[in-house]
Amino acid sequence: MEKYVEPFKIKVVEPIKVIGPEARQKAIARSGYNLFKLHAEEIYIDLLTDSGTSAMSDNQWAGIMMGDESYAGGRNYFHFEETVHDIFGFQNVIPCHQGRVAENLLFQTIAAPGLVIPNNSHFDTTRANVEMNGAEAVDLLCAEGQDPHLVASFKGNMDVDALEKLIADVGVDKIPAVMMTITNNSGGGQPVSMANIRAVGEICHRHGLPLIFDAARFAENAWFIHQREPGYRDKSILEIVQEMFSYGDGCTMSAKKDGLVNMGGFLALRDDALSERIRNLLILVEGFPTYGGLAGRDLEAMARGFREVLEPDYLRFRVGQVEMLGEQLVEAGVSILEPPGGHAIYLNAGEFLPHIPPQEFPGQSLAVNLYVESGIRGVEIGTFMFGGADPKTGENRTARLELVRLAIPRRVYTNMHMNFVAQSIIALHEKRDTLRGMKILKQPPFLRHFSATLSFLGEEAASRTQA
Ligand code: F0G
Repeated sequence: MEKYVEPFKIKVVEPIKVIGPEARQKAIARSGYNLFKLHAEEIYIDLLTDSGTSAMSDNQWAGIMMGDESYAGGRNYFHFEETVHDIFGFQNVIPCHQGRVAENLLFQTIAAPGLVIPNNSHFDTTRANVEMNGAEAVDLLCAEGQDPHLVASFKGNMDVDALEKLIADVGVDKIPAVMMTITNNSGGGQPVSMANIRAVGEICHRHGLPLIFDAARFAENAWFIHQREPGYRDKSILEIVQEMFSYGDGCTMSAKKDGLVNMGGFLALRDDALSERIRNLLILVEGFPTYGGLAGRDLEAMARGFREVLEPDYLRFRVGQVEMLGEQLVEAGVSILEPPGGHAIYLNAGEFLPHIPPQEFPGQSLAVNLYVESGIRGVEIGTFMFGGADPKTGENRTARLELVRLAIPRRVYTNMHMNFVAQSIIALHEKRDTLRGMKILKQPPFLRHFSATLSFLGEEAASRTQA
């Protein structure tokens, strides 16, 4: 019970106006049944993402007032640099405004056609930045991570045998870096064990390859190691984090997650020469190396966020709140990716709505119905997001799993909000047979989930006139 109690008091509130099911039905019809097109004010509980949606602490807001907005050499940069250096251990700290910029700077510099970047699972923006520079992004997720029902401690691990094999097959010259995403967002927010990080680090260094972490949810990963991996119970979270990064050569960071800020990120590297090249590029696209596309006050809020996110009380509640939502759903017979990861619950829409085939988008139907019934916004991660025509064959592709991600913002919603989310999903589950499939009316050539319009099957004409 204790682990679920909020370790904060609320000092500032943001009222939510609840608009009711009829108004939501109108709003989603106007949005072409695409949840990205809603106005945020039409949503009661927004679980679209845990990125940039955190509530900052009084200490971070106080830091905002201490912003030094000098163009070069502002004091907040030095506090930020010292904090990142202490926690992550890399001496070159390059600020930027969000994680994908760190990826862009890195891969513009090290990726090229013919090269291969292995990762446990690339996040979408990481993959896109690798591919945009002509390299191949290869996912090497362990076998446990592929089974949605298997309850295992570290389903985010990399398959180390597959990594060895890839290195032997393509050769070290073709691999500019190995990446590890901790926690593994695309794999369901599942953690990576210290043993796996150590093993991957050992392989990389034996072959002279740099290991770069995607550290977006590094503190949540460390908490899972603290809780689940033998030998780490008596270590502090800071010690665990320091050990994790000691096996690598750098990291990209979206501080919009475990930096507890609304905007910010960085790239940190051991390699001085590579860092110098990237800093020159940074000046071109983000700004001078002591602000990198951010205000001085943002750097201060990040520096303070990186300390707060290591607090055991914070992490116990954070991971506990996600777990509690998962437990309520599993108890009621709702199928989710198990066990719950660090930042989100993934509803298994394929099993929730077995009567809706993948090409009729069960995940999108579930997400839209959840919004209309209860005002909750999640996001489909399935055939609507990843389907579309195969560029080679022209055939419509089907995703491996049909999921709806409910990502929990940090320190934003109370447990009562989460109970409401659980009850709403359970109520929908009870009438799941009445939910219908969907079809796409209009879609762009790429990344269709952001802007396509849809309708429920059997309602095409009605939704066209409403839209
Ligand atoms: N890496 C991971 C593992 C991420 O989850 C994200 C963002 C990024 C990199 C990119 O960072 O948004 O700051 O540019 N994930 C968000 C999400 C968008 O909803 O999962 P960014």
